[in-house]
Amino acid sequence: MIGAGRGTLHQIIFSSRAARCLSSDDIWLLCDRSWQRNAAEQVTGLFLCDGARFLCALEGERKVVENTFARIMSDGRHFGVDILSRRDVRHREFDRSPMSCLLFQDHAGVANVLDSVKSSVANLTDIKSRAYFIGFAKFLR
Ligand SMILES: Cc1cc2nc3c(=O)[nH]c(=O)nc-3n(C[C@H](O)[C@H](O)[C@H](O)COP(=O)(O)O)c2cc1C
Repeated sequence: MIGAGRGTLHQIIFSSRAARCLSSDDIWLLCDRSWQRNAAEQVTGLFLCDGARFLCALEGERKVVENTFARIMSDGRHFGVDILSRRDVRHREFDRSPMSCLLFQDHAGVANVLDSVKSSVANLTDIKSRAYFIGFAKFLR
């Protein structure tokens, strides 16, 4: 469980495209390392990937989120990073875990993914941000 933190809480939501066709193993490795770093730095968020595109959210203390995002921006595994939302938040709006990773590459169990995505974004106050994630999950149906 990750607490509210002391400084200003900042949230960034971005999309990007995979630089090459990533295997499930590649993506789980990426998630695993990211999860560990986020846990150490009290960054919460959500990570969706369909093998070709990413849609991610990061939130935590502003400076930490900025540094994490700078690292992500220079990661050669993706390109075309598009910031969809960047704002300060009063409370953590994502589940209080370092990063929920939802990968749906083979489209199996997409209905379950959609349910998981809906519950992961249920506390988002910005309706557009909620729609980005639900739309991403729905588009695969
Ligand atoms: C789409 C995408 C999302 C990522 N999300 C995170 C994240 O939430 N946290 C994180 O620490 N690294 C994330 N990474 C990985 C970072 O770019 C970087 O590889 C990682 O932080 C390890 O950095 P290091 O090699 O300097 O330790 C992400 C990478 C990609 C391509």
